[in-house]
Amino acid sequence: MSDVTGLPMVFTGDGLPERVRIHEVGPRDGLQNEKGTVPTAVKAEFIRRLAAAGLTTVEATSFVHPKWVPQLADAEELFPQVKDLPVRLPVLVPNERGLDRALALGARRVAVFASATESFAKANLNRTVDESLAVFAPVVARAKEAGLHVRGYVSMCFGDPWEGAVPPHQVVEVCRALRAMGCDELSLGDTIGVATPGHVLELLSLLNEEGVTTDVIGVHFHDTYGQALANSYAALQHGVTTFDASAGGLGGCPYAKSATGNLATEDLVWMLTGLGVETGVDLAALTATSGWMAEQLGRPSPSRTVRALSHKES
Ligand code: HMG
Ligand code: MG
Repeated sequence: MSDVTGLPMVFTGDGLPERVRIHEVGPRDGLQNEKGTVPTAVKAEFIRRLAAAGLTTVEATSFVHPKWVPQLADAEELFPQVKDLPVRLPVLVPNERGLDRALALGARRVAVFASATESFAKANLNRTVDESLAVFAPVVARAKEAGLHVRGYVSMCFGDPWEGAVPPHQVVEVCRALRAMGCDELSLGDTIGVATPGHVLELLSLLNEEGVTTDVIGVHFHDTYGQALANSYAALQHGVTTFDASAGGLGGCPYAKSATGNLATEDLVWMLTGLGVETGVDLAALTATSGWMAEQLGRPSPSRTVRALSHKES
């Protein structure tokens, strides 16, 4: 690397996509898991700084039951403060009640969130997999009618803390159901971070064989076992162009105890930059944002890239 630029040297990888879109989940997936509640003004500033750093999709918050995720109970207060930013601002909606709340505030992108396993569907949504898909169907239909973009998350795509290994065909079934309902894109969640690159490639190939094309697939890796970047590289080689990541590596899931931090956006941007893959993200501005957020939270960022670049400055 060059000590002067704070960026890696570029060696373009053969056959990789020229550009990818990072779906930043820090303000939602990151902050939903904080012990303390982050003030709304700090969340709004976080989103503004992420947008200013070049992230074009920033998942802002969730319109879920405030008792289930108290950290995001200020969605009604927060969303109007950021909604006019010139970036995509998807929000999570678990049911029609959530969609109504999002529509009332003018949200243009929503995400439903399904599970590949029964245990997590119960823990996260208080429903079976089929019951939750039945709840999502009218949400997706109404959102599409209103001209919204709809993402369909699938959690526990690679392993589940209660059920262990998750057979890939089980994941495919849920993905196909979400696409059939009208979801524009999917996000494959490795909620507890157990995936390895071969497993990622196996699932992507099976999805393709079953008619789910790579252009509608995003990947959502958690770094619990240190595999998130390796898994991202595998997905990139397969042709995936949508990558979820969380600034500073914030996050987890309050309803899956073994879910630790998400893949840090900075670590992803460092790798992609070195491979010559465009992200549009200003790494220095992003690192400064995560440094600022770490100060707000009173603890250092778990992102290796944030730490390395911060040490370099001091
Ligand atoms: P429930 O208790 O079964 O709800 O929870 P219900 O449908 O029986 O309704 C009970 C009451 O809640 C009713 O009020 C509803 O109106 C109200 P009452 O009539 O008793 O006065 N209610 C709501 N209020 C506000 N907003 C709403 C809403 N819905 C119902 N949207 C429910 C079911 C889905 C609501 C609950 O389980 C829930 O909110 N779950 C959210 C869990 C969550 O947000 N988890 C984290 C996100 S997923 C994730 O992090 C994984 C991901 O990152 C990918 C990965 O890593 O794998 C995406
Ligand atoms: Mg997650």
